[in-house]
Amino acid sequence: MLPSCNTRSNPINTVTDTGRLIVLEGGEGAGKSTHASGVRAWLEQRGRSVVSTREPGGSPLAEAVRDVALRQWPEGTDALTETLLMFAARAAHLHSVIRPALQQGRDVVCDRFIDASYAYQGAGRGLGTEAVAALERLTLAGLRPHLVLLFDLEPELGLQRAHRRGDVNRFEAETLEFMRRVRAEYLRRAAAEPSRYAVIDAARPLPEVADEVRRTLEARL
Ligand code: TYD
Repeated sequence: MLPSCNTRSNPINTVTDTGRLIVLEGGEGAGKSTHASGVRAWLEQRGRSVVSTREPGGSPLAEAVRDVALRQWPEGTDALTETLLMFAARAAHLHSVIRPALQQGRDVVCDRFIDASYAYQGAGRGLGTEAVAALERLTLAGLRPHLVLLFDLEPELGLQRAHRRGDVNRFEAETLEFMRRVRAEYLRRAAAEPSRYAVIDAARPLPEVADEVRRTLEARL
């Protein structure tokens, strides 16, 4: 058991937890942020209390770490520093937002979570699966998303969409090769555990993607 500053903290995923963690993932320009509000609305229509959040970020401390993680630094950001920043933000976010919400029986809809670290840092930056898995064990202590909606898109199309949106961050400025590694890792993780992942073809027009999201929620939740 990890030491915790929160003396009232309960282990997650016990019979007392009724909240579900639903995560939206995908490469750049996949449109997942747009669909997060649809997921929230779908849950609320079914009487669920919902917390919408995002990573990196989601709490004041974690948002401050996000600013540091996404900014261009004169000396660059090496892969390990970037990874530890993502996990520092995640630990703060879990502590102050995600775990309390789940313990209160609320559903959490999160724009990116642990799979992004495997895809972007583990595969994209080449840090490797084992390093990310070690940090996952330390930080998540067994917590796993109930459902991951993976918005899958050709990297060529995704980067085009991201650039059209303007205001390009360090990741959106990455190469096609980087984005191909990110996509392959997301798809590998989804294929390894189909019961927890739904792969959604995000190349189609928005209303069609929204329809598939709705059908997926009906089938899986
Ligand atoms: P954001 O502008 O929110 O991108 P998007 O709209 O595509 O989600 O920036 C978040 C970036 O952080 C995104 O490019 C992916 C990256 N990221 C990681 O590299 N590792 C992580 O663990 C997380 C959560 C995000």
